[in-house]
Amino acid sequence: MKSIIEQAKYSHSLEKNDIIHLLANSGSDELLFKTANQLREEYLGKEVHLRALIEFSNVCKRNCFYCGLRSENKKAERYRLSPEQIIATANLAISKGYKTVVLQSGEDAYYTVKILAEIIKEVKKNDVAVTLSIGEMSYDDYAVLKLAGADRFLLRIETTDKDLYKKFHPNMSYENRLRCLFDLKKLGYETGTGCLVGLPEQTLESLAEDILFFKKLDADMVGIGPFIPHPDTPLANSGAGDFYLALKVMSIIRLLLPYANIPATTAMETLHKNGRRIALESGANVVMPNFTALDYQKKYEIYPDKILVDYSKIVEELTVLGRTVSKQKGNRKGK
Ligand code: 5AD
Ligand code: SF4
Repeated sequence: MKSIIEQAKYSHSLEKNDIIHLLANSGSDELLFKTANQLREEYLGKEVHLRALIEFSNVCKRNCFYCGLRSENKKAERYRLSPEQIIATANLAISKGYKTVVLQSGEDAYYTVKILAEIIKEVKKNDVAVTLSIGEMSYDDYAVLKLAGADRFLLRIETTDKDLYKKFHPNMSYENRLRCLFDLKKLGYETGTGCLVGLPEQTLESLAEDILFFKKLDADMVGIGPFIPHPDTPLANSGAGDFYLALKVMSIIRLLLPYANIPATTAMETLHKNGRRIALESGANVVMPNFTALDYQKKYEIYPDKILVDYSKIVEELTVLGRTVSKQKGNRKGK
């Protein structure tokens, strides 16, 4: 195992069987985490990029089995921020020094492409990067938003296991999701994707396929989150994903994509009290503090007990780790 990790450190490639082996055994975990941390340092340095996350609507037409915002969850209290509120929140984040604003929502048709384009244009009057995380759209709609100034887009594939995908995403199509990701790449978006770790019936083999998919896509950003059951969903009684398994998936991705922007995800922090610090020392170079007003943030309940990411606590933590807050936009390097 040791030699596989050593080799991958230079080749940035791994065979599927080797990935499965790494995921199934714990003997080389420390070496894996250490190597991912070294690669992050070597390729990206000590800088950590902070992205201000603005959750502007929790209305969603989809029905993903694992998510608290699914349309069939009638207990979720829905909200929408007005375009003016979204712009004001973004401007506040920018005035605090954020160089990237992430606009995230459920799939909510209330926000037409025209409305979204106007919001993006307004935010882009500042010298910032705009990331969208608003789900599946047509090529033409993605094109309009790109033209309006959007720089990046996050759309997790969630799982590359087609049977699982079908099972947990009623009335959705795996092929369309892939189409979206390739369209985003084609349009010149920095494209982020990722998967859930620990979905019921998910195998290590399918996680290995997920990892190889990120490499094949040459993903610019990859977010990995352990699955956390939400009580008002069909997966309420399933067990949560394993923090260390999610961490291993993340570290292996760092070996394969040394330049990718990889966040220490909120789901990791929620599942383990030092989750963010551990992730930052195992290959992650991004943190996404939640900048949504607290009342709304609480209602954006994808999974329960979502940790509130506190800005000053993060800065303090980074200092202790010998890391710095980047003053750059943090575009994907190495291109
Ligand atoms: N646990 C962890 N992550 C979840 N997501 C949705 N529901 C859950 C859950 N129960 C993730 C999905 C989605 C992102 C916005 O949140 O991966 O892409
Ligand atoms: Fe909607 Fe995203 Fe939740 Fe699926 S994961 S129900 S698309 S908010």
